[in-house]
Amino acid sequence: MNHTYSELYRRARPYLDTRHNEVHIAISYRFAQRLLACYPDADEGVVLPAMLLHDIGWKLIPEDQHLVAFGPKMQRPELRRYHETEGARMAGEILAAVGYDPARSAEIVAIIDGHDTRDEALSLNDRLMKDADKLWRFTQTGIGIDYQRFGVGLREHLSWLGQRIEGWLFTPAAKRIARQLHAEAEAALLL
Ligand SMILES: [Fe+2]
Ligand SMILES: [Fe+2]
Repeated sequence: MNHTYSELYRRARPYLDTRHNEVHIAISYRFAQRLLACYPDADEGVVLPAMLLHDIGWKLIPEDQHLVAFGPKMQRPELRRYHETEGARMAGEILAAVGYDPARSAEIVAIIDGHDTRDEALSLNDRLMKDADKLWRFTQTGIGIDYQRFGVGLREHLSWLGQRIEGWLFTPAAKRIARQLHAEAEAALLL
């Protein structure tokens, strides 16, 4: 991680110790790097900072509200929206504090403000960010965390996840990765 990204992460970190976001961001950051290698027209200087900062708004939402704010049992979508709007505001402040490029900062903030609730992607950068954000859910770590916190059986969760690949993901590379991870998880269940 270059010096600027490390500094952004250092400033984001106090807000990531909730909802397993430290592990989510670490895993999704690697997926973002992997997707960037597949799509050289995307701007790493937008995608990677957006990844580091996109979920810091969760820190403002009480943990006992998280399970009604996202996932299959979401009942309070306004809380999910709140983590986006507050996260966008906080990210803008962090980017300004480190003197980050203003044009890129504006794009990063726009990506964060809507990263979960906006169905359409704004740009290739946004597509990569959205895909990397979702891909961690297909890892063994993500699956293990999600099926337990959502209170469903592992098989039921894997089936739900498998049905989300086409609707959630934008890029062919991300769909390929998700299908592979999903198949591996299903195969592991058969052992
Ligand atoms: Fe989010
Ligand atoms: Fe996220």
